[in-house]
Amino acid sequence: MVVWDCSGSLQTQPSKGNFVFYMRNKAASTSFTSRRPKKLAIVGATGAVGIEMLRVLERRNFPVSSLRLLASSRSSGKKLSFCGHEQSVEALDERSFEGIDIALFSAGGDISREYAPHAVKAGAVVIDNSSAFRMDPSVPLIIPEINAIDAANHSGILANPNCTTAITLMAVHPLHQAFGLLRIIASSYQAVSGTGARAIEELKEQVSSIAGGRPIVPDVYPHQIAFNVLPHVDSFLEGGYTREEMKMQNEGRRIMNLPSFTASVTCVRVPVYRAHSVAVTAEFSRPVSLEQAREAIMNAPGIQLHDDPSRAIYPMPIECSGEDDCRVGRLRIDCAMPNALTFWVCGDQLLKGAALNAVQIAELL
Ligand code: A2P
Repeated sequence: MVVWDCSGSLQTQPSKGNFVFYMRNKAASTSFTSRRPKKLAIVGATGAVGIEMLRVLERRNFPVSSLRLLASSRSSGKKLSFCGHEQSVEALDERSFEGIDIALFSAGGDISREYAPHAVKAGAVVIDNSSAFRMDPSVPLIIPEINAIDAANHSGILANPNCTTAITLMAVHPLHQAFGLLRIIASSYQAVSGTGARAIEELKEQVSSIAGGRPIVPDVYPHQIAFNVLPHVDSFLEGGYTREEMKMQNEGRRIMNLPSFTASVTCVRVPVYRAHSVAVTAEFSRPVSLEQAREAIMNAPGIQLHDDPSRAIYPMPIECSGEDDCRVGRLRIDCAMPNALTFWVCGDQLLKGAALNAVQIAELL
């Protein structure tokens, strides 16, 4: 086997077969139960999240003994780089998972529903970024900083939570531990990259059309997204909430093991390219103090306190883009509800909301 490091230099040749990729001298906070190199597959490798998965695996020094990049037949033969080496994309089919240890899926719910069972049958553990299995009681839904312990109970599939839910819970859960969470009322400000590559293009095109005085023709979104906000993320359900909005309550209950948790959420698409923000009011069963709340956030992994409004310091999506940690600020005692805190949390939805969280789950296996 040829072992490369990510600076591109050849290290050793310890055995036959596939490549082992790893990085030296990089800070990588991993919590592997086993450092045995894994045979990985990425389904949806060419997508926005798939590409981030490659970068996260590199950065976190994930021990990879072989890597299979899978996408639609349109991408077959396309090259993607991993640790400085070019690797070809293959078309996904039912036999793609032979010999694979871990399959990271990020190609949408339909692909997950169809191919995850084939991966499990072939002996792989699936980490799925879609919503296909999130509410299946036999599938652990994991944010490693919150409920890593549940990952042990998988039967071949583990689910990654919704991006807005993951970012919000990174802030809410430490406060829950401090004060006992009852419910939240929240509004999200979601970046267009959450919708995919076509939505990013749509925002770019609309901005340039408006600057050039040309007419706008919305395609991905039902209305103009440039210089506008759309109180509409995902499809509407009976009762008036959207699917995206209800994920906070439904997934939050599972992740925090808190069946009584309720969440009234308004999800809003904003003309931001990357990183979601959420304004949250959280009510607790015990009295809250700002000092304890700040301490709870500062002591929690994966979340940073950026909170000095007098110096205009608060989290912003532009500063959270490309960052692993989520950020909380504008933390205050709520003036309208007893035992409640109001705050603002931002996070990169392609990282903690998707690729990073998936790789962190893989590190638990
Ligand atoms: P492809 O690039 O070949 O279309 P995004 O969410 O950024 O749009 O990415 C979606 C990912 O899912 C891409 O990697 C895309 O591959 C992949 N994908 C879409 N349809 C299929 C399919 N039928 N089989 C396998 N992968 C698919």
